[in-house]
Formats: sequence, structure tokens, C-alpha cells
Amino acid sequence: MARRKKQIRLDNLKVEAVVAEGKSLARHDGQVVFVKGAVPGDVVDVNITKKRKAFMEGTPIQFHQYSDLRVDAVCDYFGTCGGCKWQHMGYHSQLEFKQQQVQDSLERIAKVELPAVAQIVGSEKTLRYRNKLEFTFSNRKWLTKEQIETEADINRNGLGFHIPGLFDKVVDVDTCHLMEEPTNAVKNAVRAYALDYGLTFFDIREQHGLLRNLMIRMTDHGDVMVLLQFFEPDMEAIEGLMSHLQEKFPEITSLLYVINQKKNDTIFDQEIVVFAGKDHIIETMGDLQFKIGAKSFYQTNSAQAKVLYDHTLDFADLSQDDLVYDLYTGTGTIANYCANQAKKVIGIEYVEDAIKDAFVNSEVNGITNTDFFAGDMKDVLNDAFVAKHGAPDVIITDPPRAGMHENVVDMILRLSPKKVVYVSCNPATQARDIALMDGQYQVTKVQPVDMFPHTHHVENIVLLELRG
Ligand SMILES: C[S@@+](CC[C@H](N)C(=O)[O-])C[C@H]1O[C@@H](n2cnc3c(N)ncnc32)[C@H](O)[C@@H]1O
Repeated sequence: MARRKKQIRLDNLKVEAVVAEGKSLARHDGQVVFVKGAVPGDVVDVNITKKRKAFMEGTPIQFHQYSDLRVDAVCDYFGTCGGCKWQHMGYHSQLEFKQQQVQDSLERIAKVELPAVAQIVGSEKTLRYRNKLEFTFSNRKWLTKEQIETEADINRNGLGFHIPGLFDKVVDVDTCHLMEEPTNAVKNAVRAYALDYGLTFFDIREQHGLLRNLMIRMTDHGDVMVLLQFFEPDMEAIEGLMSHLQEKFPEITSLLYVINQKKNDTIFDQEIVVFAGKDHIIETMGDLQFKIGAKSFYQTNSAQAKVLYDHTLDFADLSQDDLVYDLYTGTGTIANYCANQAKKVIGIEYVEDAIKDAFVNSEVNGITNTDFFAGDMKDVLNDAFVAKHGAPDVIITDPPRAGMHENVVDMILRLSPKKVVYVSCNPATQARDIALMDGQYQVTKVQPVDMFPHTHHVENIVLLELRG
């Protein structure tokens, strides 16, 4: 008979800090213990769920003292939904922890000489700050203990967000506070219609059902895009639901659907059908307009994206003679945003559709001094490319969470632009890359920006200047 593992319980741990990836840290006999869902200042008993040589991980089973930093979470689904894990901390504390995370990463990982890290720029809006949300349909909605105990015959169809770690379960969300209306109204109307008319919700395990995913995007000046993703091609049911939405929400400017019969719900390779309105929405940033299709990437906190780009441009301090490379350009937002301050901007990006959007975004804005190239950065950015397009005076780089490939860092060092502005959503990989550049570049400015209140995510901009 298999022996059951002995459960380890540690009592009266004082939670000391928040560290990388938003984990709360306590210590037991000098050993690090990461405690889920705890706040610095809490005193807790913890059930250990993972034990390694260097650290342990656990979940609180009893609180002896609650931290003064705690506040009541706004959302009813806090603790179940994976979206806003820091809602139980005041925004001021969240910002302090993000600032500390940037400082710690640069000191402990980069280990380079540093200027003072500027005060993090918080988001004016801490709720309803997103311009895009995606909700998932599931025929296995998450049930609370009370529901299991009280409701005899429970309808398991739900529409909401994934439960972290459980790929087939969603928490059925009535009100999400991350986006303006009509987001919740549309979502709830779709669910109500589906339940009234007996439409089927997706079964991800068995791969059947009609309704799969709902994406809503909005702009500040009233464009609303609604995209419904279906699995089964039941045209009668699809048209019924789409017509219902068209009638009930005249404010929807792009009403779209996609029938996706793949195993996963990514839509990059799927045909989007325009049921009513336009196939895109238009977002404005400063003097520029950005055309955003259903498949386009756009920063999800529009107001803070402008703050991020303004600081990026400020660090770049471009002149009209500068040739700028915008690495990992996405849909060319930064490239287009800085084009009028430079001689030319060249954007490079992996996703071909994003590059198509980048060209469109230049065209929409009458920008003629940009050029864009699609491909893997480590392959595109080579000697032949530079020989053809010229060596950059300034490089702006905004890689994904994994940071830059070593070959890309090497190439930047060989190109030796006078400045590199490094925008990152992961201070740890940013710090790793900066360490590799330290021989040639000095960090002269650091500016963290918060794009996502109530999450542990933080953006950080670093200015690297060529050593004299
Ligand atoms: C953090 S986003 C930056 C987007 C853009 N700068 C913006 O602000 O909208 C990172 C981008 O890098 C792209 N990317 C990821 N890996 C890449 C690679 N190996 N080569 C080129 N681009 C890549 C992603 O597709 C994504 O658009």
C-alpha cells in the first residue's frame, strides 16, 4: 500500500515581503517559505504544498493576525478568479511592492551600477482600466461550497474567467470591475439568451458545444467590438444570438463571430466574420489613431500605454537625424508614436499580421518614414539587414516576458547605438539582459510604470547609454 506523505504544517509565520512574481515571503528557521494569498504583516499557519532544498511553498490555513496593509477586495470573485490577485492590498502598497520588485531585480540579478529608480507611475484608474476582456464559456462552471451544499440540481453552464490551475473550470462572473459598460451587460445578455434558448456551452474535455469564447474591446470614444467564438457551425443558433445582440446593443460598432473547430481557442489562423458594423475599432493615442482588428495586439490599458510610451520617448530623446530600430514592435505602436521625432523608424516583429497592422497604422496617420519587417528577431536582425537598412542611432526594445535572445543582445552590442531604451514587462529578464550589456552600456535612468492595478505585473523602462 502506498504510504501517504506526511503533511507539513508551519505555525505562526510572519509574512515579511512580496517578491518576484507577486509571491509573499515568510521564513521558517531561516528557510524561505512562499505563502499564497498572504500580505506582508500577516501572521499565519501554513500547510506546505511544495518542499524543495532552497524553499517551501504553502497555503494559509489560519490567520492569527491580519496585516494593516489589507483592504476589502471590491470584487465578489476575489480569491477564486485568477484575475486580480492583489485586490486585498491598498493601491499605494501595491505600487510600493512593484517599485521594490524593480529595484530588487536590478540589484540582485543585473548587479550593475544604478541611478536612483524613479518613482513608479501609478494608473489613474485602478478599476475599469482595461480596453479588452475575454470570457470563456464552460459546461463545468466552478461551484462554491454553499452551492454544492444547497442547490440540488445545478446548471453547470457558466461564462466567465478560468480558475487558475484548472483548465476546464470557469468562475461564472456577473460583474467584472476591470472594464467599462456595456461589457457586463453584453456578457450577461449573451449568457441569459444562451440559457433561455438552450444553447450549449463548450465542453473542453470532450470537445463539443456551441459557445466557446466572448471577446469585448472598447475605445475611450465609444467604439465597441464584440466577437463571439463558436465551436459547432450551427448557423441558425449563431444567427439568432447575433441578431439578438445587434438589436439589444445598438452601441456595438463591430459585431463579429468566428467558428473555431480547433482544439485551442486562438483565432490568429481563423476567418473572422463581420455580422454587423466594421471589422475594426479605432483607438486614439495623442495625435495618432490606431486601427485595431479582432486579431490585433494593443496595450490593454490605453491611458497607461500613453504614459509608458511618453516616458520611452523622453528617454530616447530623439533628433531628426536619428535612425531608430523598434525591436518587438507588435503593431508598430511605439514606432509610429515616435516617427515624427526621427529620420526613420524600422520595426521588427515576429507576428506577420501585427506587421500588416503596423503598416496600416502608419498609413492611417500619414506617416511615411517607417518600415516594418516580420520574423524572429534573432534571424532578422543580422549583418545583412543592417547593411541594407543602416545602423541604428537609437534602439528601442520591448521584448516579451522571456526577454531578448542572447544573439539579439550580442547584435545590439555589435551595433553599438548611442542609446538603448529597454521597455520590459518582466524586470527579472530585463535585469539579466542588462547585465550582459554592462561592459558597453551604463544604466542612466529607470522608470517603472504600473499598467495593471491589482496584479503583480509591472512595466519598467531603462535607459542604457553607450559608455564613453
Ligand atoms: C511586449 S510586446 C511589445 C509590443 C509593442 N512594443 C507594443 O507596445 O505594442 C512583445 C512583442 O514581441 C513579439 N515577439 C515575441 N517573440 C519574438 C521574436 N522572437 N522575434 C520577434 N518578435 C517577437 C510579440 O509578438 C509581441 O508583439
